[in-house]
Amino acid sequence: MRFAVKNKFNLKIIIILLAIYARVNSGFQEAADFHVNGNNQEDYVFITESLPEDNNLLPTLSNGHLGFTVFSDSVYMNGLYNGRRGLSHRARIPNELNIHIASSSITNKTFTFNAKSGIFQTDMISSDYSIVHHIYAHRFYNRAIINQVHIYRLNYEGDITIDVKLNAGNSSEDITFDHKNLIEVNNQSVTAACGLTNEVEDPEYQANHQRICVLWNRVPEQLTLKKGMQVMSFKFVMTVDGVLSVAKQEMTDVLEISNSQLMASHVKEWNNFWHDFDIKVSGNTHLSQAIYASIFYLVSSLPSNETNIPSNDFYGLSPTGLGRGGSQLDDYEGHNFWDTEMWMHPPILLINPGWSKALLNYRFRMLHAAKIHSNSTEFKGARFPWESAYTGLEVTQPCCPEVARNQIHVTADISFAIRNHFAMTNDMQWLHREGYPLAVEIANFWKSRVVYNASTRFYDIRDVMGPDEDHELVTNNVFTNVVAGYALYFADFASCLCNTTAVDWKEIAKRIKLLYNAIDDYHPQYEGYERGTTIKQADTVLIGYPLLYQMSDSVKRNDLLVYENVTRQTGPAMTWQIHAISHLELNEIDKADVFFLKSYQNYMRPPFNVWNEVIKGEKGATNFITGSGGFLQTVLNGYAGIKMFIDRFEIRNPRLPFKVDKLSISAVKYMGSSIEINLSNSESHIRCVHLNPNIPLQIRYTNGTTFRIAENSHYDVTTQVVIINRVFNEFGDCKIPEDVIGVSD
Ligand SMILES: *[C@@H]1O[C@H](CO)[C@@H](O)[C@H](O)[C@H]1NC(C)=O
Ligand SMILES: *[C@@H]1O[C@H](CO)[C@@H](O)[C@H](O)[C@H]1NC(C)=O
Ligand SMILES: *[C@@H]1O[C@H](CO)[C@@H](O)[C@H](O)[C@H]1NC(C)=O
Ligand SMILES: *[C@@H]1O[C@H](CO)[C@@H](O)[C@H](O)[C@H]1NC(C)=O
Ligand SMILES: *[C@@H]1O[C@H](CO)[C@@H](O)[C@H](O)[C@H]1NC(C)=O
Ligand SMILES: *[C@@H]1O[C@H](CO)[C@@H](O)[C@H](O)[C@H]1NC(C)=O
Ligand SMILES: *[C@@H]1O[C@H](CO)[C@@H](O)[C@H](O)[C@H]1NC(C)=O
Ligand SMILES: *[C@@H]1O[C@H](CO)[C@@H](O)[C@H](O)[C@H]1NC(C)=O
Ligand SMILES: *[C@@H]1O[C@H](CO)[C@@H](O)[C@H](O)[C@H]1NC(C)=O
Ligand SMILES: *[C@@H]1O[C@H](CO)[C@@H](O)[C@H](O)[C@H]1NC(C)=O
Repeated sequence: MRFAVKNKFNLKIIIILLAIYARVNSGFQEAADFHVNGNNQEDYVFITESLPEDNNLLPTLSNGHLGFTVFSDSVYMNGLYNGRRGLSHRARIPNELNIHIASSSITNKTFTFNAKSGIFQTDMISSDYSIVHHIYAHRFYNRAIINQVHIYRLNYEGDITIDVKLNAGNSSEDITFDHKNLIEVNNQSVTAACGLTNEVEDPEYQANHQRICVLWNRVPEQLTLKKGMQVMSFKFVMTVDGVLSVAKQEMTDVLEISNSQLMASHVKEWNNFWHDFDIKVSGNTHLSQAIYASIFYLVSSLPSNETNIPSNDFYGLSPTGLGRGGSQLDDYEGHNFWDTEMWMHPPILLINPGWSKALLNYRFRMLHAAKIHSNSTEFKGARFPWESAYTGLEVTQPCCPEVARNQIHVTADISFAIRNHFAMTNDMQWLHREGYPLAVEIANFWKSRVVYNASTRFYDIRDVMGPDEDHELVTNNVFTNVVAGYALYFADFASCLCNTTAVDWKEIAKRIKLLYNAIDDYHPQYEGYERGTTIKQADTVLIGYPLLYQMSDSVKRNDLLVYENVTRQTGPAMTWQIHAISHLELNEIDKADVFFLKSYQNYMRPPFNVWNEVIKGEKGATNFITGSGGFLQTVLNGYAGIKMFIDRFEIRNPRLPFKVDKLSISAVKYMGSSIEINLSNSESHIRCVHLNPNIPLQIRYTNGTTFRIAENSHYDVTTQVVIINRVFNEFGDCKIPEDVIGVSD
């Protein structure tokens, strides 16, 4: 546990640096104050004197356009893939500016990662000078990855020279670049190389190889601090885009501004984010650190709010984020899975509905491909692939055809995210344009996929694999059936809202089989499931949360008890996250706390709190932001009690996690308003910090009292259930879905 240690050496340097910054460039002061933080005990600052042996445990830095892992030789770009069908993966761009500073006289090194600014900093010190090296993916100039190096004189009076080593690794196995050209940008020598990806994903559906242009300014082999100078600053910039003129424009703009402005504009963009959304925890440093790292690693892969040049279309979130590629078909290859909609989407929707829209817009753009996929597998409507990349066709790697064939719940999971997006925004324009077209085609798929069973008079869903990938071809998987039922119900509701003639989808939804064992009062995972059979991960329990399926507390509890007993201990964090949330719902706090601790402590790796897919000691994907997403759900939807419904937003019995004195969430978004949630031992309340004047909101207590919500007023939520919703909903005659599955006639 290195990161919590207060570092004396660093403090000393910082004082020197701050003095120099102030003298050299007052513009730098702001950024320097933010980043080179005098108080190293901030929970979002991670410090170590030795890097982990496994480079995968270094932070992955992204800006929604580019991503990379610190000191790795590879950079990845949003939407850039290479490889035919199942071999598709993010195309590797050599990290031309993978810079290492070398000097034998350096005696001390400190590595600092700031999860609020996304800057990785190396401090180096020798008796004569000190060096600070910053690395970041620029959040405003998002076509750019930045290295800044500052050399400060300490003692020696003469020229100070340090060596710089570049390690861009091998040439790309994914992209064939043309000749490198030397061009001049702002009087600097810049190398430019453009190329094409080697393989299209599918020749029938991708006409052209993807084009990519990479520019970088020259890095000399040595950097010199000339005699008589106290400090020298250097910036090394790599820009990447599909269009040469864009990459060139970004390079021009970045080279034009000062070192201090460059960092300040990056920090400003992150400050805007944290000003809008933050989770502050007091009393439990480890938890607070886990939260900061989780938020950063998750949202840094999403597009920046404001950028120098407008962002390109977003291609979704992959389980290991934007900065991992998977040319060895590891790290999930940058593909989209159900992870995006079920694990990452819920917190993202609460943080920023604009990002939620960007994620769903990726699915909308891939709708045509999902229709082709459905048709080619003999069904109607749209069937989304298990893994989706550039074309939206199925790109699951050759290892695992059974997951692609059978794990069809992904298509309903996408509908669930659409439903939540609509529930939290009531954005009718979006529903018309994107939400409804998606929801309808998804419902058409399920309508053609269910099979009416004349003997039971229920619809069966046969031959599927649920989230429990240990069981391949099962019938009536409880989770699949419920989430598919929701997809049918939602299409019905949305078609009413959009004034289109409804197919009677809800009549099918109602009659989908829901397995229930009356003797043991629980839901058997699939037809023929025997109690005690080991499963891989949370499956049936997902109907309790996130699906919030209506059921008695006893069956909800029994589902938890039955499955937590038989889930593989080596499974991913999300299982324990779900169990924690559901135990909270049942007021079983001690159990919830145990699962909560288990769900992150074993899965985050020091010294930078990078998420791993598996527990310590096992080898799994790193920067596993699916785990971050589930973890943030435990905080927001578990402890803070946030539950999303089509017609309301509930805060159910909010509670503090283990060893926490105060939890403050600023601010979740609902109907264009921003709601702060503050929980403490003595009292808990919400406050609408920004009220959307067009959508008045109200809060209703269990005692029946209802208040119209006013901006900045406090409303008590201390251990009770409150309902927040619109004063006037605009659903007209459209009835909220019943969401009941397995009703007999
Ligand atoms: C550098 O590291 C050494 C050994 O860890 C330590 O004794 C020394 O105080 C450090 N120097 C500074 C300037 O912190
Ligand atoms: C780089 O290329 C060399 C020579 O082709 C090869 O032996 C080596 O494995 C490659 N390294 C990586 C990391 O791919
Ligand atoms: C480039 O160099 C020339 C000559 O040294 C100078 O006049 C000009 O202002 C420089 N341009 C920029 C953008 O720095
Ligand atoms: C996004 O940018 C707009 C200005 O373009 C600003 O008003 C808004 O607060 C920003 N939102 C976030 C979350 O940074
Ligand atoms: C698939 O598309 C073809 C061509 O449009 C159509 O004839 C066929 O009926 C479709 N198959 C299904 C199962 O809908
Ligand atoms: C109908 O359901 C029953 C009970 O689950 C099952 O035994 C039977 O095989 C199903 N019928 C068909 C045609 O699948
Ligand atoms: C649907 O029809 C109703 C009644 O005609 C109308 O008030 C409403 O604006 C329509 N909604 C949409 C989304 O077109
Ligand atoms: C959990 O497993 C233990 C040991 O196998 C067993 O005794 C217990 O009944 C199981 N509990 C449930 C709820 O299945
Ligand atoms: C909620 O907590 C935050 C962080 O501690 C604080 O800044 C804010 O003022 C609190 N809000 C209220 C209404 O007390
Ligand atoms: C109902 O509860 C709320 C919140 O605790 C309180 O403000 C309100 O006065 C209560 N109403 C009645 C009628 O007791």
